[in-house]
Amino acid sequence: MDPLRTKETILVVDDERLFRRMLCQKLSRSGYPCSEAGSGEEALKHLDQKPYDVVITDIRMQGISGIELLRAVKNEYDSDVIVITGYSEEYSYENIIEIGASDFMIKPFSPDEMLLRLNRVLHIRRLLEERNLAYSALQAVSQELIKAQEHERLRIARDLHDRVAQDLSALKISMDTLFDDRAGIDPALRHKVSSLCGVLGHSINALREIAYNLRPPILDQLGLRSAIFQYGQDFAAKSGVEVDFSSAGMDELSLSSDVEINLFRLIQETLANVQKHAHAKEVKIRLVASFPNVVLRIEDDGVGFNVSERMAAALCEKRMGLKSMQERVSLMGGTMALKSVPQKGTRLVIKIPYDALPETRSVFTLSNTCFPSKDLLTR
Ligand SMILES: Nc1ncnc2c1ncn2[C@@H]1O[C@H](COP(=O)(O)OP(=O)(O)OP(=O)(O)O)[C@@H](O)[C@H]1O
Ligand SMILES: [Mg+2]
Repeated sequence: MDPLRTKETILVVDDERLFRRMLCQKLSRSGYPCSEAGSGEEALKHLDQKPYDVVITDIRMQGISGIELLRAVKNEYDSDVIVITGYSEEYSYENIIEIGASDFMIKPFSPDEMLLRLNRVLHIRRLLEERNLAYSALQAVSQELIKAQEHERLRIARDLHDRVAQDLSALKISMDTLFDDRAGIDPALRHKVSSLCGVLGHSINALREIAYNLRPPILDQLGLRSAIFQYGQDFAAKSGVEVDFSSAGMDELSLSSDVEINLFRLIQETLANVQKHAHAKEVKIRLVASFPNVVLRIEDDGVGFNVSERMAAALCEKRMGLKSMQERVSLMGGTMALKSVPQKGTRLVIKIPYDALPETRSVFTLSNTCFPSKDLLTR
C-alpha cells in the first residue's frame, strides 16, 4: 500500500449493478473508499488510473471473466483479489487460491461476512507491508555496513602497506647491510642477524599479503579484469589449483566501483572455498557482459557437496561465506545459483544487473513469505 494513502481502497467488479452498488455502499459506510466496475475491461481501466488495495470480482461476466481479471491483476498490479461467484460448482476454493486470490466467497453471502473477510485480507496485507518495509530498512543497513567495511579495509590496507610494511622494509635493508664492509664479526652473531632478517622478510611478505587481500591496489589502478587475473595467478601459485579466467564484453561496460568490489569479493570467497573444501585440480572463472546482466560463473572440478544439507548445517556452524555472498548479490539486485554434484564439482552462477542500483525490493508477498535464499539452492 502507498504509505501516503491513509485508507485502503477497494474496487468492486460485478455485472449485476444492484449487487455491486449494495456492496460498495456497505464498504463505504464502513470507511473504505470504494469504486465500481461493471466488467473486467472497466476494472482494468480503473486499475490503470490508480492503485487499489483489494479488487472484489465476480467470476461470470461478459468479456473478460473474473478469473482472467484475477490473473491480470496478479501479473501486473499490486492488489489483493477476493473472488465471488454464484456458481460454486465451477471452481473449488483450492483452484481460486492457487491462481492467486486472497479469498473466495460463494453468493449469497451477507455484507457483514464480506466485511469480516475483507478486514482479514487487509490485515494480512498490512502485516506484509510492514514486513517489507522492515526488510527494506534492513537491506539499507546491510548496504551501509558493507560500504563501511570496504572503507575500513581500504584504510587498514593502506596503513599496513604504506606505514608498517614500508618501515619494516627499511629496517630489513638496514639489517641486511649491517655488517657490510666490517670484518671480524663473530660468525654466530652474523648468523643470528641473518636469521632475524629472514623472519623479518616473512613478516613483511605476510603483511603485504594481508594488505593485498584487504584491498588489492590493482583493482583501483587497473580495474576488475586485471585484478581478477592477478588474483587468480596468485591463488594458483599459492594453492596449486589451476585457474582459467576469461571475460567477454566487459570492455564496453563501466561498472560502479561498488559493483566491482562486490564482484571481486564474491570471487575471493569462492576461491577460498575451493581451496578449503573442494580438493579441485582446476577452477574456471568466466565474467561475461550479457545484457542486461554481468554474469559471473565459477566452476571447480572438486569433490562437490550436497548444497541443501551443507547450507542448513552451515547456519548452525556459523559458517558465513555462502550466506554473505548471497547477501551481497541480493543487495545488488542480482541472483545467485549454486549447483554441486558430489565427486563432480561445483558451479556458481551469479547475475548482476549492469546498472545495479542497490535498490531494495518488495520480497514478501502472500505466496512468498520466506527469506529470499531459496534461489540459492538450484539443484
Ligand atoms: N567449492 C566447494 N566444494 C566443496 N564444498 C564446498 C564448496 N564451497 C562450499 N562448500 C561447502 O559449503 C559449506 C559452506 O560454505 P561457507 O563458505 O558458507 O562456509 P565455510 O567456508 O566453511 O566457512 P567461512 O566461509 O565462514 O569461513 C562449506 O563448509 C563446505 O562444506
Ligand atoms: Mg567459505
